[in-house]
Amino acid sequence: MSGTQTAATYGIVTKTFHWLTALLILTIIPLGAVANRLPYETSEQLAFKAQLFSFHKTLGVIVFVVALARIIWALTQTKPATLHPERKVETLLADLVHWLLYISLVAVPLTGWIHHAATEGFAPLLLPISQELPFVPNDEGIAKLFAGLHWVWSKILVGSILLHIAGALKHHFIDKDATLRRMWFGPSIATAGAHQSSLTAPIAAVVIYIAATAAGAAGGLYTTKSDIVTAALDEVSSEWTVTEGEIGLTVTQLGSPVEGAFNDWTAAITFDETATGVLGRVETTIAIGSLQLGSVTNNALGTDFFNVGTFPTAVFAADIVSDGADGYLAEGTLTIKDISADLTLPFTLVIEGETAQMEGAVVIDRRTFNIGQSMNDESNLAFAVNVAIALTATR
Ligand code: HEM
Ligand code: HEM
Repeated sequence: MSGTQTAATYGIVTKTFHWLTALLILTIIPLGAVANRLPYETSEQLAFKAQLFSFHKTLGVIVFVVALARIIWALTQTKPATLHPERKVETLLADLVHWLLYISLVAVPLTGWIHHAATEGFAPLLLPISQELPFVPNDEGIAKLFAGLHWVWSKILVGSILLHIAGALKHHFIDKDATLRRMWFGPSIATAGAHQSSLTAPIAAVVIYIAATAAGAAGGLYTTKSDIVTAALDEVSSEWTVTEGEIGLTVTQLGSPVEGAFNDWTAAITFDETATGVLGRVETTIAIGSLQLGSVTNNALGTDFFNVGTFPTAVFAADIVSDGADGYLAEGTLTIKDISADLTLPFTLVIEGETAQMEGAVVIDRRTFNIGQSMNDESNLAFAVNVAIALTATR
């Protein structure tokens, strides 16, 4: 059996590529479909789901590289002759499916990979490469778009594979011809004539891709739509008005940091740097539903975690005192899920004229507030949660 192929037969390289890809793809699809449907209520379930997804993604990246090599190889080869050139429709259908398969072998893993790179946390790639991709920012919108494309295009791939396998089996068992045998290993099976290619099959493949993508858009598959709707907080009147600021939080999931932030919160602040003892007071109300935490936002808002449906807000009320040096302390109470605990937030403050810039950070143990009670294994989700606050306020 020769390495390269001829008009008469497939070569060993093409056959090896074909069956290696087939094996990988037929493993990846059930892994993705099963992993996507697994529950993640407990830490064991989440760890198992993440593990399946890690295998899915890792094999997917490998298939992407194999597919590129395979396509470059195919471009340098003569395509074996069509076995039944007189059956025009059947030949066109087979060619169309081959085009859909080739396009999908690149498009499906690439969209999955971009989705992965645009999302924070959950199920890392098990390869010694970066979890990020150049030119792909961490962005909810991009993640959602590519998750949608991955979903739609993987369905084209699944449909094409079913047709492809059905065709191969029909040739083998009904037509009893050499179609399957010439793709299998063993002695070369020669066929007379040359492969007749036309533009119809690749154009039809692209049209199918465009139509499926448009159907996905019509179905709203590419836009972010949070499952949880919460009311915005009312404005509060305050001696100091926050003009910009962020309450960020970082959790550690499966050993990797996942960064997020609350986008809706209010702060009522009084502060007089010339006073003695208590210098002021701060009361911050946070709309829990405004949390963005990468791919795990909905999990974090769920019953076992923040339980936003029952506890829509968290409150931090504290007195501001000097820390004895250049900084300050906000000493008070943090209330999450109706559980109150003492909390001291050290922060720095730079006041210029009527504008103040404040920065502080504190580590909270999530167990204090019954957050993620079922996740009692730190290697899945660390107990420590870092909270960082930065804001600018004017008097
Ligand atoms: C040829 C390779 C691949 C195939 C055939 C494939 C196929 C699939 C399938 C069938 C699903 C389940 C969709 C459903 O629930 O019905 C899925 C989901 C998923 N795949 Fe892939 N995939 C591939 C490569 C990748 C790669 C390389 C990555 C990331 C590096 C990836 C990331 C994901 C993710 C994150 C999901 C879940 C999407 C969601 O949350 O909606 N996939 N994939
Ligand atoms: C059990 C599963 C499979 C069987 C029985 C099978 C069988 C075959 C056969 C018999 C051919 C040769 C067709 C001909 O000579 O006209 C072929 C070609 C091809 N197969 Fe498969 N296949 C399988 C899975 C897959 C999968 C999963 C993929 C990719 C996702 C794939 C991609 C291709 C491509 C792209 C060609 C065209 C090769 C070329 O001529 O350039 N196959 N397959």
